[in-house]
Amino acid sequence: MSSVIQQQQARPVTPLGILVEHLASAILMIEADQNVPESIAAHVKQAWRLAAGIDPYLEECTTQESEALAALAKRTREEAWSRQFTEGMTVRPLEQEMLSGHIEGQTLKMFVYMTRAQRVLDIGMFTGYSALAMAEALPHDGQLVACEVDPYTAELAQGLFEASPHKGKIQVKLGPALETLDKLAAASESFDLVFIDADKKEYVQYFHTLLDSNLLAPHGIICVDNTLLQGLVYLSPHERTPNAEAIAQFNRIVADDSRVEQVLLPLRDGLTIIRRL
Ligand SMILES: C[S@@+](CC[C@H](N)C(=O)[O-])C[C@H]1O[C@@H](n2cnc3c(N)ncnc32)[C@H](O)[C@@H]1O
Repeated sequence: MSSVIQQQQARPVTPLGILVEHLASAILMIEADQNVPESIAAHVKQAWRLAAGIDPYLEECTTQESEALAALAKRTREEAWSRQFTEGMTVRPLEQEMLSGHIEGQTLKMFVYMTRAQRVLDIGMFTGYSALAMAEALPHDGQLVACEVDPYTAELAQGLFEASPHKGKIQVKLGPALETLDKLAAASESFDLVFIDADKKEYVQYFHTLLDSNLLAPHGIICVDNTLLQGLVYLSPHERTPNAEAIAQFNRIVADDSRVEQVLLPLRDGLTIIRRL
């Protein structure tokens, strides 16, 4: 059991991943302590097996990602993000764990198909996984506008889009997302589906700007990432980081807004789906 546990290397960034890590630590402690009753050890090991099996099984049962998306994810994993920030290449600290990935990308892709969206807005592009996944589901004349504040990352993403036949559907807007949203609203642009995944402390402003302007089409859907924020939103308020506090506040504001209805899905780090009533 311990050798299987030790093979897991990626830093967990979801409530499930963190739960698996805690259970793995508990198993290592149990294995080192001969006084722990076998019945307790068996329950903890079964809990670990149940939790650790979910993500690999989702991967196994979900349609494979395209070659371009797989290459984009691989390139993102290979980038030396902390060195790039230390050396001033990126304007903010970025990390490979920011990438949404296979299951969330395929979910967003399905939403684009299901809503028959023609125009999509991606707020927080990073290396472009969500942008390219959603662009793949757009019709040939569909359009996706992707917002990113970091020039290095935006350039990297655009290079990676070159490997995809869907690259022509994607338009990148470099700059702070709130400024980009104001410009898009002033130009009377409107979107059928919006994915929010940029600065957690600005989520409330993105949400209000989308609803208060015509940026969100009347039938439009907003998908919001990280609304469970590693579980910190439902654990004790004293444990919250500033980002967790911002997300907890965002979740409350959405729940209290009579203009919308919403559901928070426990997918990856939490994905809230919102529609205008
Ligand atoms: C979690 S990552 C996005 C991941 C991406 N959606 C994906 O699917 O892989 C967040 C990104 O938002 C960008 N970002 C943060 N604050 C921003 C802002 N105010 N305006 C635009 N982009 C911002 C960061 O530079 C980072 O690349």
